[in-house]
Amino acid sequence: MDFILKKPHALCIPTPFQGHINPMLKLAKILHSRGFHITFVNTEFYHQRLLQSQGSDALNGLPSFCFEAIPDGLPPAENPVATPDVLSFCMSVDEICLGPLKSLLTKLNASSPPVTCMVADILMGFTHDAAREFDIPEIVLWTSDVGSLMCLHEYPNLLERDLVPRKDSSFLSNEYLNTTIDCIPTMPGLRLKDLPSFTRRTSPGDEYMLQYLRLQTERAKSASAIIFNTFHELDGDLLDTLSSVFAPCYAVGPFHLLEKEIDEPLPIVKSSLWKEDNNCLKWLESKPPSSVIYVNFGSITVITHQHLLEFCWGLANSNYPFLWIIRPDLVIGQSAVQLPSEFLEETSSRGLLASWCPQEQVLNHPAIGGFLTHSGWNSTIESISSGVPMICCPFSGDQQTNCWSCCNRWGVGMEIDNDVKREEVAKLVIELMNGKKGKEMRKNATELNNKAEKACASPFGSSTVNLEKVIQLL
Ligand code: UDX
Repeated sequence: MDFILKKPHALCIPTPFQGHINPMLKLAKILHSRGFHITFVNTEFYHQRLLQSQGSDALNGLPSFCFEAIPDGLPPAENPVATPDVLSFCMSVDEICLGPLKSLLTKLNASSPPVTCMVADILMGFTHDAAREFDIPEIVLWTSDVGSLMCLHEYPNLLERDLVPRKDSSFLSNEYLNTTIDCIPTMPGLRLKDLPSFTRRTSPGDEYMLQYLRLQTERAKSASAIIFNTFHELDGDLLDTLSSVFAPCYAVGPFHLLEKEIDEPLPIVKSSLWKEDNNCLKWLESKPPSSVIYVNFGSITVITHQHLLEFCWGLANSNYPFLWIIRPDLVIGQSAVQLPSEFLEETSSRGLLASWCPQEQVLNHPAIGGFLTHSGWNSTIESISSGVPMICCPFSGDQQTNCWSCCNRWGVGMEIDNDVKREEVAKLVIELMNGKKGKEMRKNATELNNKAEKACASPFGSSTVNLEKVIQLL
């Protein structure tokens, strides 16, 4: 009984988007394996989505791993399986969620064990007030790459040099975007186009997002620490620089590799908002090693119908087998994606299409030879720690900066413009799968994969040691 009362209780509060829920859930499982009681707090919309995709058993959890939901203030969704606009979401939660979170804390404290700490996504900045009021330590999770936080931090510097003036989009010529900015520490050679997209401020939405993120990063300075889903050997230089201006910064990832080290994994708790199609894994079994190009643009990126066609014919013309995940809401203005019948006929013997897959397992499958990705941070770190080189096609947010790091810092990626052309897709796929550059990138990715495994597997690995430090703070 005494032991139960003393058990630390962490409230884990993700930003409720797939690319944020996944790392938070993994972190929660890791903390659970280290003796924490966990309450995982979704907002209402996503709680319902998870119930739909995973079934109620998945969210019943365990006595020591519970799920709760707080209201997000969003109106009922027109399309319940589409992702709500990030901007409306941020505006809403910042205004709505503090009261419900405090009520939840009061309710949980009346039961046992009382909440002893919070782990919150950096975008959920309202949590700081609750942590202060309830006098508990808080750790903040930055779910993107370290480079984009560095760019945000350096934003005033860019502004002072007139590098990111407020302009309309016609100002953003290629010549301008390719200008090198050499004023961001540890990121030499970064171009204006590699900055997180909202820093360009070409729309009121960008402007709001930028101010919102800057406010949240300022708030995060009062947290006990900021943690990142990366490992020291990949991002140590940037983290050391950031630690001197923010709260202490710790690399405790890749989370999915630390999760693999758990002796008794939690049986059901999963976080996919879409149903996974496991046929992909069966299909991959029939393919030779490193022969398949995997294509996936994550959970929120949308593309035009023309771009869809360019990807179709680029993949077809490369002649490589492909596994392409096409979410039902991928194409702007289409509720169900329509592919040309000629394309489907021509590639039926070497292409597999699905709407969602178990990505970590896919990336770890020996048949996968390369990944055509939108460069979301989770996809990037999952690919690196599976030893899979990438074609990076960044669309928005931190994806530009992730792409730059893959291509320039780590040598595991080749960039393709998101105003994509079929000839370029085919050319890069062929180079990635069997060209000299592709082989070099595969070698670099394999080396980084080995380092990532060492960071997580041994008790002296950098991420295991950092996790220990974070647990002490909590
Ligand atoms: C968003 C932003 O776009 C991204 O840039 C930011 O870093 C995090 O938030 P998202 O676009 O969804 O994320 O991409 P990503 O970060 O790659 O996260 C997608 C997650 O969903 C990954 O963990 C991936 O493994 C998982 N996934 C994706 C699947 O499990 N199956 C799929 O079919 C597709």
